[in-house]
Amino acid sequence: MQYGSALSGQLMLVGLLVLLAAQGAPMAVVAIPSPECQRRCGGVDIPYPFGLDRNCSLPVGGFNVSCQQGLDGAYRPFIGPNLELLNISLVHGTARVLNHISTYCYNSSSRSMHWSTWNFNALHGQYRFSDVHNKFTVIGCKTLAYISDDTGTGYQSGCVSTCQNLSLVANGSCSGLGCCQTSIPRGLGFYDVSFAMGFNTSKIWKFSRCSYAVLMEAESFNFSTAYISTAEFNDTNAGRVPVVMDWAIRSGAMSCEVAKQNKTAYACLSNNSECVDSINGPGYRCNCSKGYQGNPYLQDGCQDIDECNDSPCPSAGGICHNTVGSYLCSCRPGRRFNEQRNTCDPDTGFITGLTVGFLGLVIFSLFGYMIFQKRKLNQVKQEHFRQHGGMILFERMKSERGLAFTVFTEAELVEATNNYDKSRIIGKGGHGTVYKGIVKGNMPVAIKRCAIINERQKKEFGKEMLILSQINHKNIVKLVGCCLEVEVPMLVYEFIPKGTLYELIHGKNQALQISFSSLLRIAHEAAEGLNFLHSYASPPIIHGDVKTANVLLDENYMAKVSDFGASILAPSDEEQYVTMVQGTCGYLDPEYIQTCQLTEKSDVYSFGVILLEILTGQVPLKLDGPEMQRSLSSNFLSAMKENNLDAVLPSHVKGQESTELIRGPAELAKQCLDMCGNNRPSMKEIGDELGRLRKLSLHPWVQTNAQMAETQGLLTACFETASFELEASATGYPTQEGENLPINPTKLGAIISTWQNGSSEAMVGFLCSLSSG
Ligand SMILES: *[C@@H]1O[C@H](CO)[C@@H](O)[C@H](O)[C@H]1NC(C)=O
Ligand SMILES: *[C@@H]1O[C@H](CO)[C@@H](O)[C@H](O)[C@H]1NC(C)=O
Ligand SMILES: *[C@@H]1O[C@H](CO)[C@@H](O)[C@H](O)[C@H]1NC(C)=O
Repeated sequence: MQYGSALSGQLMLVGLLVLLAAQGAPMAVVAIPSPECQRRCGGVDIPYPFGLDRNCSLPVGGFNVSCQQGLDGAYRPFIGPNLELLNISLVHGTARVLNHISTYCYNSSSRSMHWSTWNFNALHGQYRFSDVHNKFTVIGCKTLAYISDDTGTGYQSGCVSTCQNLSLVANGSCSGLGCCQTSIPRGLGFYDVSFAMGFNTSKIWKFSRCSYAVLMEAESFNFSTAYISTAEFNDTNAGRVPVVMDWAIRSGAMSCEVAKQNKTAYACLSNNSECVDSINGPGYRCNCSKGYQGNPYLQDGCQDIDECNDSPCPSAGGICHNTVGSYLCSCRPGRRFNEQRNTCDPDTGFITGLTVGFLGLVIFSLFGYMIFQKRKLNQVKQEHFRQHGGMILFERMKSERGLAFTVFTEAELVEATNNYDKSRIIGKGGHGTVYKGIVKGNMPVAIKRCAIINERQKKEFGKEMLILSQINHKNIVKLVGCCLEVEVPMLVYEFIPKGTLYELIHGKNQALQISFSSLLRIAHEAAEGLNFLHSYASPPIIHGDVKTANVLLDENYMAKVSDFGASILAPSDEEQYVTMVQGTCGYLDPEYIQTCQLTEKSDVYSFGVILLEILTGQVPLKLDGPEMQRSLSSNFLSAMKENNLDAVLPSHVKGQESTELIRGPAELAKQCLDMCGNNRPSMKEIGDELGRLRKLSLHPWVQTNAQMAETQGLLTACFETASFELEASATGYPTQEGENLPINPTKLGAIISTWQNGSSEAMVGFLCSLSSG
């Protein structure tokens, strides 16, 4: 009855699809479809592996599509005899077809229910119903529809839809009131629809005559109340709605792994294509690799995607460069393409990099500049060093390891003198300034910064340093080093603490505090030192500036001749004499003034002046005195001529003129001051004579006991004097404040002047020299 009419509308697809599957059995070698194959039908693209002709489609599976002319004269593509194809997606592996809606309606004339149900069998073909896109959709106000698969899985499902009247039904909502939907399982290749008879519209046909059930694409369904009250749903597309099928190459190969083994039948022909296993049922599909697009089933079907075509890069202001599988977007400098926002954003990295780079450059430049400056400075230093003959010095020093001579760097001396602090100055003169400094931790030195020296001197400097550095005599200030890096070389001497002979003689209270005998000893020592200089080298080293100010006194009041740094080796040619005038007024050899020839005898002349100072306690030149008496030497010489030595002797030594102790040095001085250099004694002779006189000054005390007894009373006073002298000596230079002394010097002077016996004086001097030495 009702069944019969239902069967009449049933279409059996099963046979057809089974036939197709059988024909596409695993035999065919993958054929390359002719480019002349028709690829469109009814506005729908039919891409390979689908084809409108047997030779234009993949021979396996059911990819054959027929292009049929409808009653309206238009051509449409069909899968099988009556499933109209809407479109095919190679990328998703889907095909949309129009599916028939099953109906269950009340016929008011026959007063009975009529149904028309469709089943769909895709099991033996390449199709499966998409469980993702499709839903079993039922419309009606008293409807229960089943979906079932009776091909073996035994799957059955369904849904109920009811409504009392239309007013309760809402547009767009399919959740049980007038409409219901249910999902389907994956892998479904066949379904059958049936309506439950107990749920019929025989009682409500006036507002809802029909019920509908169909498996359809959920996305394209939007429930409307009109579907209840009218036949609109069924009328729209001749009772058909879209359903999404998942297709794959299923015959022969159940997976990619299997398919790849059968090279001849493997469908993924294109380079840059890859095989993917079907996720809905067995089989495989092909995809172009990432960055490629096209048809992976055709040779060279996968083409590189020009991503720039739809890249956001140009609109962001960048320049797009297509690359294989991707693209690059270059923004203008300082900006960087932001792939999330698709804009050219300021590149913090770039700016940071730029900043860091710039800073780096600045630092680098500064550093370079510093190095350059330092190098330049070093070059200047080295130039000076070279100019001053440092190389010769260095070479010699290398060969003579034992040399206790240091070549100081400028920095060392700057540090030693606290950057040439004024408080460190211990002497100043025509030849330069002398600073006290500490080098090598605790070694006190006198550092002499020479005044400007001339070119010749510069050249000779290293050589001279070498000779001077080797001079090692107890009566010569030791040169411990020099610094050649500076424009004007610096000399480093051992530090001599007790000042100069000049200060000893000409300081206030002078002669009272140091005995004549001690002065004689100092003179003797100075003579020894000068003798050493004269005899040390050939040509001889001439001091050139012998004077009391250049006789230094060490802690034991031993004489040390200094400032021979200003001296030079005896010059050997005329031109040099002119440039080397040195020495001090009052000490200058008159012969030298005339001949410009500096000889050892010039030093001897100057030494004669020293002897005079010791004898007379007067300075060599008295600029404020009467013109005739300005020069000590001429005064002395004229006094000697007149045999009136007393005239130049101080009161306290006058009485001793008769003694050899006064006469001897005076005679020696006279010889030294001879106008003719040849007539002057040599330094050695002077040393010997002074040594003899010193001995003489001791003998009377040792030999004449009687005299000693005579002066017993005075000796007590002498000892007091001696101890006072020692006190004054120990504190350094001669005391300046005579008034504060325990014994009034004037009074003492008076006592001494009463002494008539030189030997007593000599004894006192000896005691003093013993104690102070
Ligand atoms: C399929 O066809 C419909 C209409 O013909 C269209 O809207 C849709 O975008 C197409 N889908 C694909 C995957 O081509
Ligand atoms: C639903 O939409 C249809 C047209 O799309 C309209 O005729 C009908 O009145 C609407 N129903 C309701 C309840 O809004
Ligand atoms: C309609 O359903 C009722 C029960 O709701 C049932 O009694 C009746 O027989 C059905 N009519 C037809 C034609 O099946």
